[in-house]
Amino acid sequence: MSERKTTVSRREFLKDAGLVVGGATIGSTAILSACSKNSSKTVTETVTKNATQTVTTTVNKEGASKYVCPVDSQEFSSMDALKAHYAAEHASNGPEQIVSFTVNGQPYTMVVKPWWPLAYVLRDILGYYGVKVGCDMGNCGTCTVLVKRNGKNVPIFSCLTVAGVIDGWEITTIEGLEGGNGTLDPVQQAFYDADAYQCGYCTPGLILAAEALIADNPTPTADDVREAFSGHLCFCCNMTKQVACITGGVKK
Ligand code: FES
Ligand code: FES
Repeated sequence: MSERKTTVSRREFLKDAGLVVGGATIGSTAILSACSKNSSKTVTETVTKNATQTVTTTVNKEGASKYVCPVDSQEFSSMDALKAHYAAEHASNGPEQIVSFTVNGQPYTMVVKPWWPLAYVLRDILGYYGVKVGCDMGNCGTCTVLVKRNGKNVPIFSCLTVAGVIDGWEITTIEGLEGGNGTLDPVQQAFYDADAYQCGYCTPGLILAAEALIADNPTPTADDVREAFSGHLCFCCNMTKQVACITGGVKK
């Protein structure tokens, strides 16, 4: 069995993350922006009955940006300046922080409570419903997403990852694998061709774990695949097909 560095078993994940949260979280959120180079887009979600503060970050054609504080509307020329201002001036709001990250290449900047689960941010606030939540406690792997670390996509459990640590992260969800016009990527196609799913609830997490495995080890043995899937459960008992369809690699 070959050694793999990017596959994170549940035990390794818990050790690496060092951060565990449990249960659902409620609160209000302000999403500052989700903007591409020459345009801006605002995504707003009201999570509680509290008013949601929303700020738009604009980027003009020359690339100059304006970052506006969601509390007092002061403008800043850099995100770092806004973050410093927010931390210094609005501590009375309680423990909140501004985090910037990307999901499938789309940049986001949000005010978050640091203890919010990443799964909650991705799924309930941003609408990446491909992120499934099963056990919500690190047992099933359905909430797996990929995070870029040292140039490699590493699978993590988003239910056990808190929003307070995601500043600067590049995150990939199952939605990020799709090619143009709904084309499946090779791992997705392998699962489809092998009928390696039933209800499909475990499938996004398994496919993302397989993506990380194949990127690191293009022709994995069945044991390699089992190891990569070790933190995942399929309640439909379809694991034999799921392992077999990845064993030996997939056609690119
Ligand atoms: S929902 Fe995250 S491991 Fe089960
Ligand atoms: S296909 Fe249903 S849980 Fe795996």
